[in-house]
Amino acid sequence: MASSSIRGSLLFASFAFFLFVLSSTSAAAAAPANLVLSKVDRKIDLVSQVVRTTAQIKVENKGPEPAAEVLLAVSAEQAKSLAYVRVTTAEGKGKNKAPGVVLSVKPQEAEDLGNVTFFSVELPKPLGKGETVALDIYSAYTHRLKPFPLEIGQSDVQLVLYHDSAYYLSPYPVKVQTTSLRVPSFRVESFTKVEPSKIAEGEIKYGPYENVPALTHTPITAHFENNEPFAVVKNLEREIEISHWGNIYVTEKYHLTHAGARHKGGFSRFDYQSKPSASGAASFRHLLARLPPRAHSVYYRDEIGNISTSHLRSDLRKTELELEPRYPLFGGWQVTFTVGYGVPLEDFVFKTEDGRRFLNISFGSPFVNVVVENLVVQVVLPEGSSEASAVLPFHAEEALKTKFTYLDTVGRPVVELTRKNVIPEHNVNFQVYYRFNTIAMLAEPLLLVVGFFAFFAACIAYTHFDFSISKTSSSYQARQLREEVLDAVQRIQKVMNERAVVSEKLEASLRDLARTGNVATSKAARKEADARLKETAKDLKAILDSLPPSSRPTVLAKVDNLIQKEREKQEKLQQKHTITVEAYEKKLSSKDIDSRVGPYQQKLNALKQEVAELLNSLDD
Ligand SMILES: *[C@@H]1O[C@H](CO)[C@@H](O)[C@H](O)[C@H]1NC(C)=O
Ligand SMILES: *[C@@H]1O[C@H](CO)[C@@H](O)[C@H](O)[C@H]1NC(C)=O
Ligand SMILES: *[C@@H]1O[C@H](CO)[C@@H](O)[C@H](O)[C@H]1NC(C)=O
Repeated sequence: MASSSIRGSLLFASFAFFLFVLSSTSAAAAAPANLVLSKVDRKIDLVSQVVRTTAQIKVENKGPEPAAEVLLAVSAEQAKSLAYVRVTTAEGKGKNKAPGVVLSVKPQEAEDLGNVTFFSVELPKPLGKGETVALDIYSAYTHRLKPFPLEIGQSDVQLVLYHDSAYYLSPYPVKVQTTSLRVPSFRVESFTKVEPSKIAEGEIKYGPYENVPALTHTPITAHFENNEPFAVVKNLEREIEISHWGNIYVTEKYHLTHAGARHKGGFSRFDYQSKPSASGAASFRHLLARLPPRAHSVYYRDEIGNISTSHLRSDLRKTELELEPRYPLFGGWQVTFTVGYGVPLEDFVFKTEDGRRFLNISFGSPFVNVVVENLVVQVVLPEGSSEASAVLPFHAEEALKTKFTYLDTVGRPVVELTRKNVIPEHNVNFQVYYRFNTIAMLAEPLLLVVGFFAFFAACIAYTHFDFSISKTSSSYQARQLREEVLDAVQRIQKVMNERAVVSEKLEASLRDLARTGNVATSKAARKEADARLKETAKDLKAILDSLPPSSRPTVLAKVDNLIQKEREKQEKLQQKHTITVEAYEKKLSSKDIDSRVGPYQQKLNALKQEVAELLNSLDD
């Protein structure tokens, strides 16, 4: 009985669901039938690496029912590269045009036709029978210009293919329509003709076409020159750290590629520099970033060190940073670097009326004309903040994390925002709201004070209690042993510090080498470093031997492990040094140098991390 009633209710539930699906799809499918586009003017801008489309449409309601929404159609292929869409109302014309109202746009999954994706636009007020509304639809796409040929030499220009439809893809019939493609140069190899169509002054024009049925798709292809540098950031990590002591620190880690036609054949720096107009037309050598007006402490570095070839210009309204990577970027080449700067706290953090605070700062990359495939923005709030929440004008994945830095006790709350396919249009302000107690600000200094106090208290206690214990008691011996071990550990830490200074100097000599190319100084520095490392290795061995054999095996193992790893780290650094100096002796290009040194640098970084962790764990 019980089981049959369960089955019954399951049956009922699935039936209800079926009904629901049926009714919701039929409602959505019924909507388009009433509407007609009386006019469509579409302009497609193919001048940069981002394809920007503006469609001005006039929607007319022919049916008896009022329409609350309008559907937009995008081919599934294009929907994958859709980065941005904005729909506004368009009242009036020319100079009398009223500022448009931004309408909400939502993906419409129930309507999926397989090769067409739908979006629904909510109208400000339902469109009654016989009424018309004019809309401006602005959309931007990435990765839709395909280099063809796929590979070009240093002296070739870059040609690209663009695919679309001659007709505006619409879920409704269109009475009259035109489309125009703006191309960046007069060199157009070919374009598909769909009469009437023509080309004039950098513009390919399609239409006017009359009475095109809903969802008509007529493929067209244009093939033309586009030497715009296709600067694509594969991955960008932006960290925005708020310090209530007066500054916000922004650190941005870039993995940048040139996503245009791949470079083939050799690279001649001579040709590149002597014939800049005829060489590497689609390559790029400079990058421009627009930083906030009062940005300070700006730096730009990569794995090898600071890069001095950057220019900073600032006035009251902006700060412009022009960077020059170590080598020009051709198709398929890539580079990683870090840019950092500070801005005054009062320019970006404000108080709300209810006593909360909020950060109001721009979301995307400050570099102009870049596409960011994957952007992670981390807002690191001061320790002791609570109730963090972000407000963005578009969707981004949101996560709450905790970060520990020096002297932190409970860690700093981090709001992490992730978004794919970010273009300059996304470079608008977003907000992170949080509560913060000024008392919490004093936690770190307080921690120091308490720490010192505790230390002195311990000293006093120590001098008072020391002599009350008999020297033969087992507790005395245990303490004696512990002190010997502690002493040895401290001496080891001291030697480790010395060795760290040695490797720091060695790294500095490599940075000098990159700047000056002076191999001899670098070799001299190496000789000195090797000698110091040898001496300190002896010291370490002596300390290890002096450790009483009865000391705790865990301590011994830890120390052994640390010394082992630290030696590996030093060896790796020496190898990196050898390779780099050799490369400079052979006068290799900086790209080759980077690719040779890269693997060593990676291992070195990993070892550095391990050694730092081991050193920390020695303290407890
Ligand atoms: C979708 O597929 C149909 C049937 O194959 C085809 O007629 C139509 O042109 C396609 N539409 C798009 C936008 O690719
Ligand atoms: C790199 O530049 C930063 C900021 O100008 C500076 O603080 C740092 O000391 C420099 N590092 C080296 C190794 O020159
Ligand atoms: C954030 O800053 C922008 C530009 O300065 C400003 O227009 C906007 O009103 C600010 N947002 C808030 C919530 O204060």
